[in-house]
Amino acid sequence: PVMDDLSGWQEREDQLAKKLHIAHCTIVPGDSTAPTGSLMGMGQAAGQVLTDQLPLGKSTVAVMGGHTMAAVASALTPALSVNRQLLFVPARGGVGESPAIQANAVSAQMAQQTNGEFRSLFVPEQLTTATYKPLFAEPAIHEVLQLIDQSNVVIHGIGQAFVMAKRRKIAPHVIADLTAAHAVGEAFGHFFDAEGHVVSKFPRIGVDIADLAAKELVVAVAGGAEKGAAIAAYMHLAPASTWLITDEGAADFVLKK
Ligand code: BG6
Repeated sequence: PVMDDLSGWQEREDQLAKKLHIAHCTIVPGDSTAPTGSLMGMGQAAGQVLTDQLPLGKSTVAVMGGHTMAAVASALTPALSVNRQLLFVPARGGVGESPAIQANAVSAQMAQQTNGEFRSLFVPEQLTTATYKPLFAEPAIHEVLQLIDQSNVVIHGIGQAFVMAKRRKIAPHVIADLTAAHAVGEAFGHFFDAEGHVVSKFPRIGVDIADLAAKELVVAVAGGAEKGAAIAAYMHLAPASTWLITDEGAADFVLKK
């Protein structure tokens, strides 16, 4: 935004926050998922919000995966660690996504970029109860799960239900269920409809949406007009303290609704 527009821009951010019933929104120009768009604007805005808002001292930061989170990671710098000791952990188990955008990779990259530390969680997300029970008892896994539980900061993306279902190679009969239930969005392994009703929840480990209200800082990063419905839907579930970083594409979609 140019200088003259600054107050108008801020007004739009306030309007969006009000409409979504959350504390803060940051809107970056453009549409990041348009053919000419880029996720870097939101990545940089997220870096700025973290620099301003991350508590000083020690923090354990739980992060989700995805292309947007990877863009946030690449925008971080060692400046974030001034007066802070940061430990990054994946917010949930790994998914069948490409390695570079898995939560483990994103948390490792965030640590690298900020001279912080990280721990990986080598547990696939889709496990049967019989398999994961003994796995959780393993000290190395137990330790990371505890760190995830104790995390005071969470940074996450929001996806479109069917884009994520496909990316996670979800079984056709489950996809049929999601269709019947009018799923529009996905976050933290929860698929939900436009009103924010959870229609499917994968029995996965790590941060749950219900845990978010107790965190010191929760930053959601998602944009693009195509994600507008998913973002609006997720905000029915999000704690009011959520700080949303988005773009004009998604903001216009939500504000016009
Ligand atoms: C995934 C997360 O890694 O990224 C999802 O597990 C999230 O919860 C998704 O919805 C968002 O991905 P992207 O690539 O659109 O940023």
